[in-house]
Amino acid sequence: MQIKLIPLQAHGDDRGSLIALEEGKNIPFPVKRVYYLFNTKEGVRRGFHAHKTLKQVAIAVRGSCRFVLDDGNERVEVLLDNPAQGLLIESFMWREMYDFSEDCVLMVLADQLYDESDYIRDYAQFIEAANSHVHSSAQ
Ligand code: TYD
Repeated sequence: MQIKLIPLQAHGDDRGSLIALEEGKNIPFPVKRVYYLFNTKEGVRRGFHAHKTLKQVAIAVRGSCRFVLDDGNERVEVLLDNPAQGLLIESFMWREMYDFSEDCVLMVLADQLYDESDYIRDYAQFIEAANSHVHSSAQ
């Protein structure tokens, strides 16, 4: 599985750093929603879902955390520890997040508003849906 890490250019000078996120430029979709996870407790593992259509980009704007991404075929671990890097998470991708540093702020940009009906929260159901998604996209 190809993990898509988007390099985000930092504009730095002696005052500090600045990164701009722009739809159609470094963010490959229209941004409808932004949310962020913080104060995540030690040992917590969260996520445990996939989306039917949602696309997202996750950025550890502070601190670090790990992701498991699973396309139904392969599981890959990714460390996010750089505010100048965005992890693209396409639809039909099971994700789990863990090993949050105490200071971690994980920001997520999404191309749709929150919609519970877009979630697949059951792993067995995800595997079934991912397989039929692969077959229908290959046609
Ligand atoms: P949840 O899906 O459990 O988060 P994660 O997948 O990261 O473990 O979401 C936590 C709560 O926040 C849940 O009650 C749904 C709510 N929520 C929103 O209201 N809007 C959002 O955009 C998101 C992502 C979650």
